[in-house]
Amino acid sequence: MIVDERITAYINSLSIELPLYLSTLEKEAVKEEVPIIKKETQSLLRFLLAMKKPAHILEVGTAVGFSALFMSECMPKTCDITTIEKVEMRLVKARVNLKNTDKADKIRLLEGDALVVLKELAEKEGERYDFIFMDAAKAQYMNYLPEVLRLLAPEGLLATDNVLQDGTVAQSRYGITRRDRTIHTRMREYLYTLTHSEQLVTTVLSVGDGVTLSIKQ
Ligand SMILES: C[S@@+](CC[C@H](N)C(=O)[O-])C[C@H]1O[C@@H](n2cnc3c(N)ncnc32)[C@H](O)[C@@H]1O
Repeated sequence: MIVDERITAYINSLSIELPLYLSTLEKEAVKEEVPIIKKETQSLLRFLLAMKKPAHILEVGTAVGFSALFMSECMPKTCDITTIEKVEMRLVKARVNLKNTDKADKIRLLEGDALVVLKELAEKEGERYDFIFMDAAKAQYMNYLPEVLRLLAPEGLLATDNVLQDGTVAQSRYGITRRDRTIHTRMREYLYTLTHSEQLVTTVLSVGDGVTLSIKQ
């Protein structure tokens, strides 16, 4: 946890109750150690969707479908969500969860490696998103970025989760275990690229495990 635990608990106590099916899914995911978005990130997404009112959302990293379903509860009625996942164990649950909702016709699950799927989407004419939520393999964010930027509409918003990795990104490279150094280097490179890109205006927030918000200029 990056922010003081007591403050986070208090802020979370103010968050709006989820519909029963979502809070059940959230509990199951936590119990089974599926890494879904935290309460703080839920509040941020809810706010961003209310502000941005996107028409097309793209999510990289479905897991069991919790965040896609969460966003479907907050998005405008005419909005749709495309979400990408490659791990079969997660897909088995995501397929069921994303079908068992009255918003099923608004949610498209694309199965496969995100880099491949993103490239295919970027090559399709007219495939553009005004809200992209990046929440997949952290070490791959740099590889996804060129395709994500192609897919992001002008003035579109890119939100990336888990960018501070429990605060370890801020530590010196030498304080990081050898095992985690590659991810540490790659995440720093990703953060530097987002914050210094001429195409983007980016802010880094210490919400949840760290979230960046980038607007395409
Ligand atoms: C943090 S979880 C996503 C959580 C989800 N957004 C939520 O909050 O409910 C990241 C997901 O990305 C998936 N993932 C990792 N590498 C991937 C890849 N190369 N292509 C597609 N999905 C990938 C993992 O299997 C995992 O389910």
